[in-house]
Amino acid sequence: MGKPVGIGIIGAGNIGRVHGRALAELGDRVELVCIADPSEAARGALGEAVGCRRLVADPEALLANSAVEAVVICSSTDTHAPLIVASARAGKHIFCEKPLALELGKIDRALAAVEDAGVLLQVGFNRRFDRDFSAMRAQIAAGQIGTPEVLRITSRDPRPPPIAYVERSGGLFLDMTIHDFDMARFLMDSEVAELHVYAATLVDPAIGAAGDVDTAVIALRFESGALGVIENSRRAVYGYDQRAEVHGSEGMLANQNPRRDDLVLADGRGTHAAALTDFYIDRYADAYRAEMAAFVDAIRGGTAPRVTGLDGRMATVLGHAARRSWAEGTPVRPAEVTPE
Ligand SMILES: NC(=O)c1ccc[n+]([C@@H]2O[C@H](COP(=O)([O-])OP(=O)(O)OC[C@H]3O[C@@H](n4cnc5c(N)ncnc54)[C@H](O)[C@@H]3O)[C@@H](O)[C@H]2O)c1
Repeated sequence: MGKPVGIGIIGAGNIGRVHGRALAELGDRVELVCIADPSEAARGALGEAVGCRRLVADPEALLANSAVEAVVICSSTDTHAPLIVASARAGKHIFCEKPLALELGKIDRALAAVEDAGVLLQVGFNRRFDRDFSAMRAQIAAGQIGTPEVLRITSRDPRPPPIAYVERSGGLFLDMTIHDFDMARFLMDSEVAELHVYAATLVDPAIGAAGDVDTAVIALRFESGALGVIENSRRAVYGYDQRAEVHGSEGMLANQNPRRDDLVLADGRGTHAAALTDFYIDRYADAYRAEMAAFVDAIRGGTAPRVTGLDGRMATVLGHAARRSWAEGTPVRPAEVTPE
């Protein structure tokens, strides 16, 4: 086994804790060198959980540490692009959570800095590492369903995020649907040529008051000629609902939602199964582990990341196209979305 990859975690909130634990589980393959977060409570709690004692408030101090070979950026969305630029200039390999930025100009400057520095960048589209979505892609690529013709993605969160988060997140399309746009490109292996959005505020009027929507249906036409539909809701009382179906000329592939256990109870009232997993931390626990392992493998193996900066950019382009389609009530071609 090679030398452990020295890693610094930037941002010790929800997803920082998920990635920190996944990295700690990689054992000798990584050394968690440093954690940066302006919140003393957040960095202290994560440091304790993963056994990392170098805790700093400012990411610059983490980037100055020569034992940090790679960073895992888990801070708030508005910090991602400047942190990518600073990390690339410091010669660190980079994992960055989605979205790379809300503005395409910032993404382009960040990707240019990565290119100039020759470092590796992997973007946090964790669903590609989910066992079933990954197998679905592999089976489509192997020709199991012939030519893919129609994609359906159902993506419903169990409950909406706090309004303060909604206000800063970029809204449904850039925060939540961005994962589904990436899944659409991943499964269909084709770019989206055009999309048309119907969206509404059906869950919480406060989301509408914040200028966002909580429910959407998005029709897609791919460059390959295939069609698709993404359906989103910020509420599903039965748990986190994440399904995809691809219909092709020779068959159909679909996944099912995992449940909290696989038991079936049959009684006089019917046949009952356990509830779905609650949310992303449970549903994608294995995918997050695989995602971190792939990042470390790419660094040690010198191989290309499985989710690239261009994947991060394209999903954001589709988010902007969706916002425009919603605002204007017309179909939008993503090719028309240019940096602001
Ligand atoms: N891929 C996924 O499944 C997934 C899931 C959740 C969140 N996310 C993304 O991860 C990011 C963080 O989300 P979260 O839910 O963990 O948020 P959070 O608010 O729980 O945590 C963010 C943390 O970043 C810290 N922070 C802010 N500015 C910083 C800076 N300059 N340097 C270092 N730390 C800083 C904050 O103090 C906070 O502790 C968001 O961009 C979100 O879109 C991705």
